[in-house]
Amino acid sequence: MREEKRNKLLILYASQTGNALDAAERIGRESERRGCPVVVRPVDDYDARCLPEEDTVIFVVSTTGQGDTPDSMKVFWRFLLQKSLSKQWLEGVRYAVFGLGDSGYQKFNFVAKKLDNRLLDLGATAVVERGLGDDQHPSGYEGALDPWMRSLWRRLHQIDPSFFPQGPDHVIEEMKLIDQPKVHITYHSIDNAASRLSNASDLEGIRMQLETARSMSAGKLSNYNNKAVCFLKMIKNQPLTKSGSGKDVHHFEFEFVSAAIEYEVGDVLEILPSQDPAAVDTFIQRCNLDPDALITVQHKEMKNYLPDIHKNTTEVPIKLRTFVELTMDVTSASPRRYFFEVMSYFATAEHEKERLQYFASPEGRDDLYKYNQKERRTVLEVSFGEYIICAFHLILISG
Ligand SMILES: Cc1cc2nc3c(=O)[nH]c(=O)nc-3n(C[C@H](O)[C@H](O)[C@H](O)COP(=O)(O)O)c2cc1C
Repeated sequence: MREEKRNKLLILYASQTGNALDAAERIGRESERRGCPVVVRPVDDYDARCLPEEDTVIFVVSTTGQGDTPDSMKVFWRFLLQKSLSKQWLEGVRYAVFGLGDSGYQKFNFVAKKLDNRLLDLGATAVVERGLGDDQHPSGYEGALDPWMRSLWRRLHQIDPSFFPQGPDHVIEEMKLIDQPKVHITYHSIDNAASRLSNASDLEGIRMQLETARSMSAGKLSNYNNKAVCFLKMIKNQPLTKSGSGKDVHHFEFEFVSAAIEYEVGDVLEILPSQDPAAVDTFIQRCNLDPDALITVQHKEMKNYLPDIHKNTTEVPIKLRTFVELTMDVTSASPRRYFFEVMSYFATAEHEKERLQYFASPEGRDDLYKYNQKERRTVLEVSFGEYIICAFHLILISG
């Protein structure tokens, strides 16, 4: 069995709001740049019974609630806690854990700590000490991620040089990797696709479109799965904090527009707000794309792993504009470091290229966090004319 194993890293992530997904993808890219292939999966896409067959598994997990696992990790975690699993169950399996948390919470990074302890209990071997990302750090979780990754690569190389044949510090020219799109976009002719398009004029039609768009957006698949969807109208939006204070907290009240769903105290409501239509149009224009084009989007890696419920919806074309509206936050989310990195490859003006490279480098990390996330700049604000076209396909990946 051991001979069949490959030195391929498996990266499993569990995320509630997307940071752990970002971190997992970053670890994956950094590994590939060093010549080691990876598979990156949400933990609920993975059959925990296969763990003993793995060579090296990197877990990237956040903590939510009051020290709780993200929703997508609940089944996996219950499985690991089974008393019937022996202390040798994971013998021969190497692992590393990176946690995302906030030291402002009493149970700081509780999930990463629990997972690390349990894996040890089950006989697995830690490659490096667990890394604990902290929202309170001036660079956010990345403050801990960079040094943690450095020790991970070095340690893996010490254990087995075939992980990184040219050494842990030898990085393949990024352009070669950036050039390989992870999603496949098919454009459909109107005649062929029109009959399969859902009618967006009623609530059921909008729900269908939402499902179609989300199923094509690989990163969030598992979060969206099996959740009740309803339509709400905001009837109250009252600021609770004074203007100029560090936080912006609001009291919202909603009214059901579609049939009400049942909920209990403590349930979490995830809201998918709509975006400013003018900003969506500007984004599409800047990307030089046709908003009315009919597309289907397939994530290459995900193709064989789609839950059955999504297999059909990914084949139904959707308008490019609807896809952008429903899956890509162009008006409020701050782009991450990778976005700057990708744009730096396409920047032609030297001073812009240098600035973008600086933001994407470990030295520029704190400045980037301040410029970007703290000051809440959006994709539209930081995008530069033609470079954004190249970045478009990369945003599709993170949905
Ligand atoms: C509702 C909520 C509850 C949280 N509870 C904890 C907690 O108990 N312990 C902790 O260390 N971090 C906690 N955090 C911080 C998150 O773990 C941190 O923001 C992390 O980056 C989120 O990663 P994710 O986007 O992958 O879920 C909480 C965050 C939110 C929004």
